[in-house]
Amino acid sequence: MIEHWFDPQDCDMATQYDIVHIDCAESTQDEARLRLDATGTSVLVVADEQTAGRGRQGRDWAQPDRGMFASYAFVSGWDLSDRTLIPLVAAVAIREAVQELLDIELGLRWPNDLMIEGGKIGGLLVEASGDTVIVGCGINLLWKNPIEGAAALLTEDPGASVAVRLAETWVDVLIGHLGRGSGGWPRAEYESASVTLDHYVIWGDGLGRAVGIANDGALVVERDGEQIELRAGEVHTRVRR
Ligand code: BTN
Repeated sequence: MIEHWFDPQDCDMATQYDIVHIDCAESTQDEARLRLDATGTSVLVVADEQTAGRGRQGRDWAQPDRGMFASYAFVSGWDLSDRTLIPLVAAVAIREAVQELLDIELGLRWPNDLMIEGGKIGGLLVEASGDTVIVGCGINLLWKNPIEGAAALLTEDPGASVAVRLAETWVDVLIGHLGRGSGGWPRAEYESASVTLDHYVIWGDGLGRAVGIANDGALVVERDGEQIELRAGEVHTRVRR
């Protein structure tokens, strides 16, 4: 286990977290939760492989040829009502990390899908119980024959070490954003990277144009001159600009 100290410039306090890199996990979400429960210290778990990775809404998270599978478990100081913003903040953080390390610009599909040219190359999953929050991020680094709708970030295998460095950079950036409080969440960055805003979306039985992000992270859509707020999981498809 590598121990790592993060000292974000904009935070009052240094934040310590453990980093654990393992070959294989059923799900890094469960590994991270167990380790935080056992030690009381925030932890980033990165696995080279997952045998039972999970996505949002109970879906399986498939295994690409090379992936980043990472989960960061911590105790949140944010008010419960603000925690719905954490998935969006985590999406901005991984976008920044990918830009910094790989010089690739990701689009963000609301609420927290990571996109390149219409293909989903990754996503985030936030699970919480009480004040414990586990933020998971999966990125398809290399996938020669991806499943439908999926894509990969790279065309050559970067190796496992790149996945670990990417995960560490992601968590460092994430901690920096979280340390600024919910009032300082990076809304402008999220909105400018969004591939959902200003597009038409379908949800349940509705079709409307995405016009904004509410203060709790909901997607604001306009339909027949009326504004409706959609919460995570309800939007299925972006159909046209
Ligand atoms: C989504 O549905 O788009 C979110 C996918 C999140 C997958 C990641 S991979 C690392 C972590 N462990 C899991 O089991 N899931 C998340």
